[in-house]
Amino acid sequence: MKIVPGPASEKLGADVASRIGQDVVPVSFRVFPDGESYVRLEGDVHDEDVAVVQTTSPPQDSRLIQLALIADAAKRNGARKIIAVVPYLAYARQDKIFLQGEPLSIETIARMLKTSGVDEIITVNAHKEEILSKLPFPARNISSIPSLAEHFRKTTEGAFAVAPDSGAIHIAEEADRVLRGGHGYLEKHRDRYTGKISIEKKEFSIRGMTAIIFDDIISTGGTIIAAAKILTELRAAAIYAACAHALLIGDAEERIIRAGVREIVGTDTVPGRVSKVTVAPLIAEELLR
Ligand code: R5P
Repeated sequence: MKIVPGPASEKLGADVASRIGQDVVPVSFRVFPDGESYVRLEGDVHDEDVAVVQTTSPPQDSRLIQLALIADAAKRNGARKIIAVVPYLAYARQDKIFLQGEPLSIETIARMLKTSGVDEIITVNAHKEEILSKLPFPARNISSIPSLAEHFRKTTEGAFAVAPDSGAIHIAEEADRVLRGGHGYLEKHRDRYTGKISIEKKEFSIRGMTAIIFDDIISTGGTIIAAAKILTELRAAAIYAACAHALLIGDAEERIIRAGVREIVGTDTVPGRVSKVTVAPLIAEELLR
């Protein structure tokens, strides 16, 4: 197998390759003056299984195009099978038609990747795992939640794991299996037209405890801020936020900290200031499987 780290995940791709002892095929990459992407494989992939590691966090659209171009280049150069390792899978939140007239974005994206030559996908904490079985190729999902919980266990074993909405209960359960301080969920409502979030209070007994909000994505921070407000009202002694994909759009990080969250911890599915946990061992293990 050859590992091709895309421009969005160069370090992660190289880490994965060294963990499984496989060669890296570098990609030369540039952006034309008009904004179009150019890629070129700088190595041989003929008759090889190829794993292209490319996250699709913002700027999602150009990173998806780069992934499609790399897959096409690999297929044209004789790759046997192309596994797209997409740690953060963009457009996965539009996994159904919420309002009449909308597209089913994740299926559209998957069809584009299949046409480009992708035979299989591996992703991390897909927004809803169920959608993966509807994609036009086999898709595997890895969870980074145990690794995130492990990161906290060293300092905050016994912390209470909170899911900010009922769709994330399984995430809080997973974290609780490591932290062993109990878990619960809040009830979130998002206005489909304005995007405004409201969260209902639940009566957990977390007075004096450390509470960690676990979610798959932190984007604008609205969900975490609303959840932190409730945990503060419930008199948690300390509040932390953890997620697989810390997109942290605009001033989300500052606003979350101002809302009383001590620390935000994310993974390197989205490289950045808070990506303190690596998913490289999980991806390496999945590729070896
Ligand atoms: C939504 O269902 C997701 O699981 C996250 O809760 C959401 O994407 C977070 O977005 P934001 O940070 O903008 O509230």
